[in-house]
Amino acid sequence: MSELTVRIAGWGKYLPARVMDNHEIERLVDTSDEWIRARSGIVERRIAADDETTCSMSVASARPALDMAGVDPLDLELIIVATGTPDHPGFPATGSLVQQALGATRAGAFDVGAGCGAFGYGLVAGAQFVLSGAHRNVLVVGADVMSRVIDWRDRSTCVLFGDGAGAVVLQASDTLGGLRSFVLGSDGCGAPRLYIPAGGSRQPASHDSVENGAHYLKMDGRDVYRFATRVIPESILGALVKAGLAPRDLDLLIPHQANSRIIEHARKKLELPPERVFVNVDKYGNTSSASIPVALCEALEQGRIARGDIIGMCAFGAGLCWAAAIWEWN
Ligand code: ACO
Repeated sequence: MSELTVRIAGWGKYLPARVMDNHEIERLVDTSDEWIRARSGIVERRIAADDETTCSMSVASARPALDMAGVDPLDLELIIVATGTPDHPGFPATGSLVQQALGATRAGAFDVGAGCGAFGYGLVAGAQFVLSGAHRNVLVVGADVMSRVIDWRDRSTCVLFGDGAGAVVLQASDTLGGLRSFVLGSDGCGAPRLYIPAGGSRQPASHDSVENGAHYLKMDGRDVYRFATRVIPESILGALVKAGLAPRDLDLLIPHQANSRIIEHARKKLELPPERVFVNVDKYGNTSSASIPVALCEALEQGRIARGDIIGMCAFGAGLCWAAAIWEWN
């Protein structure tokens, strides 16, 4: 009897039409195109229109993924939406809104919150439902509208982020490969390094919280930078070892697209040539949960992934937390 595996049967992405380049940000805060390019590699990002939400962008990325996989929404058994910017704070889950919009009336749905690491957690969780034999068709979406939680007066954060969504359809398969290994990690000591102070149960919304800007993302950039440069190589190496592989076996590394300097640091540490690392942070900035699925879609569109290739994906972010996965493309 052949072994049950999981494959990515379809993929899709959605980026809002509106492009905001660095020069536009120069008019908002005391910064420059040169500084943003040199320190982060970002040239432009996409900004959601007023009527776009995490749900609407999730649906826009999910439809092409389902079409490609040849999966009718009625055949979906589970929808996982990875996001840090749900349409509503907890009630209901954005997953349920996506389920309704797709007409996936037989699917369960929930959200995964793990900062920018959420898609990594969602992908691994979705794969477990398939590998356990519980479900045959699972949709995993990563979507965030970071522009709505950014303080557009804070130059240390507003230059870095953008909006977007990406989706994959996970399917039960009997072809070898799929998820070979993963590493999930968390260090809650780093929670104050990257967080939104108010709007949760610890500090509910109030006049004061709004006046103090406590609903915006706060970040200690230098600390998060140090964390990120350490955690990408460590978690990818850890996952490779679990799969019985070494960095030289990686055909493509798709790291979370937060900053090209962080990615370059990880590339050197893992001793990978530039062509084996995917980078699109220049076009979209840090799209949080959308970053890895959007990058995966673009790598596939550009023909940079072939059957049998070993792909490393590493997401990290608020928590602090991280999720690395080794995927053999099947
Ligand atoms: N324009 C111009 N100057 C700026 C800007 C800006 N947009 N932002 C900060 N500066 C200034 C600072 O005030 C500082 O000035 P000072 O030396 O007079 O104090 C100087 O530039 C250098 O600041 P640093 O913070 O040391 O700059 P650094 O080289 O570390 O780059 C950056 C800052 C880009 C934020 C970097 O630290 C970084 O990328 N950190 C990681 C951020 C990240 O990836 N976050 C997302 C994690 S994922 C998630 O879950 C959300």
